[in-house]
Amino acid sequence: MRLKDKVAIVTGAGRGLGKGIAKKLAEEGAKVVLADMNSPDEAVAEITAGGGTASAFTVNVTKQEEMQAMVQYAIDTYGTLDIMVNNAGINKDGMLHKMPAENWNVVIDVDLTGAFYGTQEALKYMRTQGSGRIINISSGSWLGNLGQANYAAAKAGVVGLTKTAARESAQKGIT
Ligand SMILES: NC(=O)c1ccc[n+]([C@@H]2O[C@H](COP(=O)([O-])OP(=O)(O)OC[C@H]3O[C@@H](n4cnc5c(N)ncnc54)[C@H](O)[C@@H]3O)[C@@H](O)[C@H]2O)c1
Repeated sequence: MRLKDKVAIVTGAGRGLGKGIAKKLAEEGAKVVLADMNSPDEAVAEITAGGGTASAFTVNVTKQEEMQAMVQYAIDTYGTLDIMVNNAGINKDGMLHKMPAENWNVVIDVDLTGAFYGTQEALKYMRTQGSGRIINISSGSWLGNLGQANYAAAKAGVVGLTKTAARESAQKGIT
């Protein structure tokens, strides 16, 4: 139980990797808020059925006020926030020369701006607390990948965002 009494938020936790990350955190003893725009109730039920502590929060990561409310919910429900996992992400693949601007914008919005809001809202609390862990899920595509200009750009942005956050807040106990 390496994370006993730690409190975590995982975005995009309704299914896929986010759900797996949330389950593993709960297995290690963390109290986990599973946040997703599609109901994460089933994933929460799986964790609580296994003896873990978890609750669901409906959020759209592209809305800053909802991300702020999500962090507040974790603090109000479990008393603190130790671990923020910005995992929610989407793909809208297509060759760059034919990519509609809306497919560019929505992927940047969810994958990069969503991680920005999650990182910023977590930092506001963690910098005062003097500790915290922020985990932002990028992708090997950040180096460039056929048909994924939008996704590669967003995931490269996530790397820059994360390295900058580390440089700015490591001295406050946040990695
Ligand atoms: N699956 C892979 O092979 C792979 C590889 C590298 C990186 N990744 C990254 O890992 C993360 C998870 O991938 P996955 O394959 O589990 O994805 P997935 O599509 O299975 O799950 C993504 C979850 O995010 C949620 N979501 C989407 N948009 C949202 C929004 N605006 N607000 C809140 N929630 C939202 C969805 O409802 C869904 O539950 C993504 O960031 C993805 O880019 C995945």
